Amino acid sequence: MKTTASYLRVIGFMILAFFLLEFTIDSGEEWAIIKYPIIWAVLGMLFFFAIALEIVAAALQRILFASLSDEAKERYIAAEALRNQTRFGWFKRKYEDMLGAKPMEKEQDIVLDHNYDGIRELDNKLPPWWVYMFYATIIFAGIYLVRFQIFNGPNQIDEYETEVAQAKLDVAEFKKNNKDLIDVNTVEILTEPSDLAAGETIFTANCVACHKVGGAGGIGPNLTDDYWILGGGIKNVFHTISEGGRAGKGMISWKTDLKPSEMAQVASYVLSLHGTNPADPKDPEGEIWIDENAPVDNVQVKQVDSTEIEVKMTNDPVIDSIQPGK
Ligand code: HEC
Repeated sequence: MKTTASYLRVIGFMILAFFLLEFTIDSGEEWAIIKYPIIWAVLGMLFFFAIALEIVAAALQRILFASLSDEAKERYIAAEALRNQTRFGWFKRKYEDMLGAKPMEKEQDIVLDHNYDGIRELDNKLPPWWVYMFYATIIFAGIYLVRFQIFNGPNQIDEYETEVAQAKLDVAEFKKNNKDLIDVNTVEILTEPSDLAAGETIFTANCVACHKVGGAGGIGPNLTDDYWILGGGIKNVFHTISEGGRAGKGMISWKTDLKPSEMAQVASYVLSLHGTNPADPKDPEGEIWIDENAPVDNVQVKQVDSTEIEVKMTNDPVIDSIQPGK
């Protein structure tokens, strides 16, 4: 009995220590014990500490017991026995109450007076545990009725929609905090002035040598016109910056020098230069780039005269006029 109590105390202490550590150490989504393996060492030390404490306490008790007079020893043993008896008494009584069974000796009080070939019936009460659960279901039904039928609480579809909306916010938040997770497939054009300003800084530091200030073009092609050698649009431009141009042309891969977020910024800056007509532009190279992913019915192309066609996005008030060959 005593050793069992010691084991239980040590186990209880370890469980308590484990949860205390888990709750007090900020480890994000992960278990602290996985993120910080040092916790194993801490728990191990606490474990030895708890065992040592139990050993010391038991030894102390033995010494004190040995020092008692014979009469005091007897009293101690009697008191200990009583304590062990009453320790779980409350739980035992509650358990028996919940079963609600009549003790065998009192069964004659509740036996019914009919007799079927020697089979008799006891008029037992319903067991309290069952009755309480039944009451609980009635209360539950009442609350349910009022909350969901009368006050129109959220149904499963509403709950689903709230969760999806929250998840979208979480994804946006996550993307904001993890800008470098983007790649050529997920990159989107940035329009925040702060991102474009950062893009301009990167461009000035790394790109103007070949593309000139404002992207007018020098060794590298003009980045402000409608013509692209390697494709326009954020994904192609990001890809060109990340992987470089055609071999031997001079446009290197920047992915080792720039972070994905920086490549997205400079790519967005490059695209923001479109149509700015910088001084001394380099002649167009490549082909007019048409976004194949844009819904076709959003684009209206109108021939103005023999040298000019007008491209209009119906969902976008900006009208672009293109003069081929100019
Ligand atoms: C050493 C000179 C040089 C530097 C520095 C340079 N580029 Fe280029 N860039 C080129 C050349 C040359 C090409 C054409 C590549 C080809 O023809 O394949 C090019 C092509 C491009 C294109 C594709 C243009 C098209 O028409 O498809 C983009 C976009 C671009 N560069 C952006 C940048 C950015 C952004 C930087 C700075 C991070 C940069 N470049 C730095 C020389 C350079």
